[in-house]
Amino acid sequence: MMIFVVAVVLCLSPQVWGLSDDCQSSLQKLDCGYVGINQTQCEAKNCCWVPVDPNPNNVPWCFHKTGPIPHYTVDDIEKTALGVKITLKTNASDSPTYGTPVNPLVVEISEQTESRLHIKIYDPNNKRWEIPTSFSPAPSDPSTSPSSTLYTYKYPDKGSDFSFSIMRDGGDVLFDASNLQFFDQYLTLSTKLPASSNVYGIGEHVTPYLKLQPRTYTLWNFDTATPELLNLYGSHPFYLDLRPPGNAHGVYLRNSNGMDVVLADDSLTYNVIGGVLDFYFFLGPKPEAVIQQYQEVIGRPHMPPYWALGFHQCRYGYKNVEELEAVVAGYKSSQIPLDTMWSDIDYMDQYKDFTLDPDNYALDKMKPFVDSLHQNGQQYVHIIDPGIKAQQGYDPYDKGIQMDVFIKDSKGKPLTGKVWPGITTFPDFFHPKANQYWENNIQSFRTNYFPVDGLWIDMNEISNFCNGECSSEDDSATIQQAPKPTIPYNGFDPNSPPYQIDNQGNRVALNVKTISTDAVHYGGVLEYNTHNLFGLTESIATNLALEDIRKARSLVISRSTFPGSGSHAGHWTGDNHADWENIYTSIPDVLNFQMFGIPLIGADICGFAGSTNEELCGRWMQLGAFYPFSRNHNAIGDDPQEPYRWSSVANKSRVALGIRYSILPYYYTLFYKAHRDPDPKDPAAVVLRPLFFDFSDDSNTYEIDKQFMVGGSLLISPILKQGASTIQIYIPSGVWYDWYSWQVVTDEGKMSKSLSVGDDIPIHIRGGSIIPMHQPAMTTAASRKTPFSLLVALDSSGSATGDLFCDDGNSLDMKSYLFVDYSVDGKELKATVSGPGYSGSLSSLDAVNILGVGTKPNSVMLNGQAVSSFTYDDSNKSLKITSLNADMSKDFTIKWM
Ligand SMILES: *[C@@H]1O[C@H](CO)[C@@H](O)[C@H](O)[C@H]1NC(C)=O
Ligand SMILES: *[C@@H]1O[C@H](CO)[C@@H](O)[C@H](O)[C@H]1NC(C)=O
Ligand SMILES: *[C@@H]1O[C@H](CO)[C@@H](O)[C@H](O)[C@H]1NC(C)=O
Ligand SMILES: *[C@@H]1O[C@H](CO)[C@@H](O)[C@H](O)[C@H]1NC(C)=O
Repeated sequence: MMIFVVAVVLCLSPQVWGLSDDCQSSLQKLDCGYVGINQTQCEAKNCCWVPVDPNPNNVPWCFHKTGPIPHYTVDDIEKTALGVKITLKTNASDSPTYGTPVNPLVVEISEQTESRLHIKIYDPNNKRWEIPTSFSPAPSDPSTSPSSTLYTYKYPDKGSDFSFSIMRDGGDVLFDASNLQFFDQYLTLSTKLPASSNVYGIGEHVTPYLKLQPRTYTLWNFDTATPELLNLYGSHPFYLDLRPPGNAHGVYLRNSNGMDVVLADDSLTYNVIGGVLDFYFFLGPKPEAVIQQYQEVIGRPHMPPYWALGFHQCRYGYKNVEELEAVVAGYKSSQIPLDTMWSDIDYMDQYKDFTLDPDNYALDKMKPFVDSLHQNGQQYVHIIDPGIKAQQGYDPYDKGIQMDVFIKDSKGKPLTGKVWPGITTFPDFFHPKANQYWENNIQSFRTNYFPVDGLWIDMNEISNFCNGECSSEDDSATIQQAPKPTIPYNGFDPNSPPYQIDNQGNRVALNVKTISTDAVHYGGVLEYNTHNLFGLTESIATNLALEDIRKARSLVISRSTFPGSGSHAGHWTGDNHADWENIYTSIPDVLNFQMFGIPLIGADICGFAGSTNEELCGRWMQLGAFYPFSRNHNAIGDDPQEPYRWSSVANKSRVALGIRYSILPYYYTLFYKAHRDPDPKDPAAVVLRPLFFDFSDDSNTYEIDKQFMVGGSLLISPILKQGASTIQIYIPSGVWYDWYSWQVVTDEGKMSKSLSVGDDIPIHIRGGSIIPMHQPAMTTAASRKTPFSLLVALDSSGSATGDLFCDDGNSLDMKSYLFVDYSVDGKELKATVSGPGYSGSLSSLDAVNILGVGTKPNSVMLNGQAVSSFTYDDSNKSLKITSLNADMSKDFTIKWM
């Protein structure tokens, strides 16, 4: 298919801008409206109103009257070491709406690796805003191009209109770019999408689907209580496109400015309000390889400490130390695992960072409490916010003024907004001294009070209780429409960009509930350009500080994220709601962040806002036991929801968390594989996976978002409906075993199945898997001390593979570890140990349970020596070998015959 717009533009003359009143033009319609806009409101914006109903292609009803768009023609083509540099020119005159088109433009196409193509479109004469690589990495060009590539690309000859396309192996067109426009504050480009495309990603949004549906997805970090489909805390301009028969590619637009990504049935359009068009294309072809290639650009995920994978309890509204103690005791007496106790802002003195409430959280009680957690192998984490109360005599404020590290307003004074403690300033992590400032504060809290094990960084969109800036506590935030753009355009204005992104689905002003877009960071950098980066920069500073102080891996959980955040922090899905819709939407949300390079993610289990109920909380504890980051968190004023509050929820939690704790070696290994330099034979890059990751050749899996996989071996099918006695599940191809009975559910798979459900969450083990396990215990520390076992689930040919990463769970350098490959082939299990070796104490292997053994063996041998303790169960074809006492740090073989 040829590009849809350019051909039409050529026929139009004269080639000038002007407000054509022709609303019937066949030009691509550039959205001027917002969801729910009506004719009066549209025409008041001087835009065209042309309803289209039915509207399968999601054509905007309200669109700009721009007249002919400027098109760029190819002026010069120069071969480079890695590809080509194309100079574009436009002869279009100024646009009344957007000003002067950037002219000339350069398009640089670089073949960076066999599977990664880089295309950057920029102004060769004026340096524009680009994301510093110190915050969000981007690889530098290699010195030579790869000897072969999975892609080819096309661009026009000199003198022709500009477009470009990228093909897989010269065939399937993956990206078909047209309609390039490049103004100072408005950049746009579209790609055609074939009907076979399945697009995932583009976040952060709460969506009632994993596979994206046509609509506008806006990226502008915003603090709101998670309404579906609106721009939220973080921005991730990355998508993965999966097409039958199972090839996937990824597209990353490396740009931190506000943008709308408009997905229609047959196209995807970027409308961006600044920066440059800096694209990376990842050829996969398997979905997991796409994510691995993406993470090669943005940075691989942080390796969490082992304890971070334990269970966490938090709530906003714990009144005092006694309540924290009672909760820890409640877990203990109910025998439900708990690794980490958390505090929300309640612990602070008047909500000021780095302080302690002297009455309710008095030091002489808090310190012994935290010490006792540590003695029990548990941890304590609390919240901090970026807003520093603007109050003389408050040390973090005084030091920030002395060090001059706060974000400035347009007049050069520290910008003030309003957050929990009242009027606040905000650290500017662009400032070279800001990391030191932040670390000093974190260190003084530890010196003055007690050592926390991790930090939870909230409100970092930046969230502000007034719009832009304020100096009085009486000010408040109101939802205001963006100011009308000036027509004709009269130069760069951070407060009133000519293209209004669909902020909050209603084109609200960019400063609503955040700081002013004309605020200034170190080096004269405008908030307009860097807004989406604040959470990332704070995550970097916080993780660096904790690592430097603790000399161990720490836990940082950040609400706001950007590409690269996963190398420093995990994330939770924010202020969700205690209802059945939110238990479901947590799944697409958590799966999206696996694709965004932030595998350590979870939703507030049992729901944050609103009171939960016994059935919902029980089902949510079961699902949440499999979130990579597993935390129950509740809002102030709602009914308590710790799992021991109801006997049925306690029972479900004991079972589900018992499974989680027993498979922590498997989770930890998945995190390691996402973190390490990838092994070309094993593209593992994420922890939880949509079904289409492992079964990309099965189009039945493309829209499944009520089930997911943990690694490649476990299929989880949570119960998401009130009163459900059956659920409909999909079982992909292969042999699958029921977790609880070890019975084969299907030896072929690829089937939908109605499953009757009882108390437990349905889990299926994929034939061909070997899962390293411990025994469950009340903490990860205690669980790690129990013997190992291996759960071996044979496939139809009697084979299976798995692996294990093992270290002390804490060290920063990760130099002392074991990596063990397990494989079964022909009635023999082999363990092959690699890695530098682990010097710490290591449990031995006690048991091996093999599922799918056709006939009862007569003998079992460990390293050639007969083993007497084994049983065979004919009803479920399982072989249970016990009392092995094998050394996990050495190669071994187990044979049965
Ligand atoms: C701009 O360039 C196009 C060819 O690409 C030409 O047809 C048109 O006349 C030019 N317009 C002006 C105003 O020079
Ligand atoms: C459009 O919406 C505005 C604001 O809600 C309202 O005042 C106006 O009557 C509406 N116009 C039409 C044509 O529905
Ligand atoms: C919880 O489990 C215990 C022990 O198995 C059982 O006695 C009790 O009835 C269960 N409670 C509920 C509500 O299912
Ligand atoms: C399957 O085998 C195990 C181990 O021998 C046994 O404990 C269990 O009861 C069996 N399950 C069924 C459903 O037969």
